[in-house]
Amino acid sequence: MPRRLQGDNLVPSMARKHEPMSADWRNRLIVGITGASGAIFGVRLLEACRALGLEVHLCVSKAAELTLAHELEMRAADLKTLAHRTYAPGDVGAAIASGSFKTRGMIVAPCSIRTMSEIACGTTVSTLTRAADVVLKEQRKLVLLLRETPLHAGHLENLLKLARMGAIIAPPVPAFYIKPQSVDALVDHTVGRALDLLDLDSELPHRWREVENQG
Ligand SMILES: Cc1cc2nc3c(=O)[nH]c(=O)nc-3n(C[C@H](O)[C@H](O)[C@H](O)COP(=O)(O)O)c2cc1C
Repeated sequence: MPRRLQGDNLVPSMARKHEPMSADWRNRLIVGITGASGAIFGVRLLEACRALGLEVHLCVSKAAELTLAHELEMRAADLKTLAHRTYAPGDVGAAIASGSFKTRGMIVAPCSIRTMSEIACGTTVSTLTRAADVVLKEQRKLVLLLRETPLHAGHLENLLKLARMGAIIAPPVPAFYIKPQSVDALVDHTVGRALDLLDLDSELPHRWREVENQG
């Protein structure tokens, strides 16, 4: 079982900075950002990964360029500094397109219906969906922050297929028990929970009763 990554037990070179590439696959995470609404989830995830000293391999879909611009006034290029490597959508010869390139897993945040459906069907024409398919076939962890509502039977069938294939379907559903004071608090909670699914213990405040117990 992979040990927990938390502060002190990070591989030292990765705890310091992103370069060079880690020899330890447990420090390596693939992040996909698609064109579903909620680009902020992807950006916040990248920031949290950086704080954890992870080696991030990033795929941003063409549609995500639109949502990044529309929702955050950002360009995909602005995210480059938050990733160790960024892959073009059509780079199917990329390291992350091969199962021999070991990673801890992959988080797609936010995940569109289009990307989810492509992964479910295994057609995987882009770098992002190929990487997700590889993660599944190698029985690593794939977490999909699927954002769409409402869902029709076809969506649900594809989601069931993915769940049976081992994917973790984690829609970014707000948790009001944290009594959020801002949208950022809701986003942090979702991102913290997504990282938890990969046994990555971020410092984002996201645990039930954690804050009041500290007092
Ligand atoms: C502003 C905006 C918001 C969108 N929100 C969603 C969404 O929440 N969920 C979704 O599945 N698609 C959404 N879409 C549509 C996707 O961007 C579109 O299906 C695209 O083909 C997805 O491609 P990708 O999966 O390669 O990123 C949105 C599009 C735009 C322009």
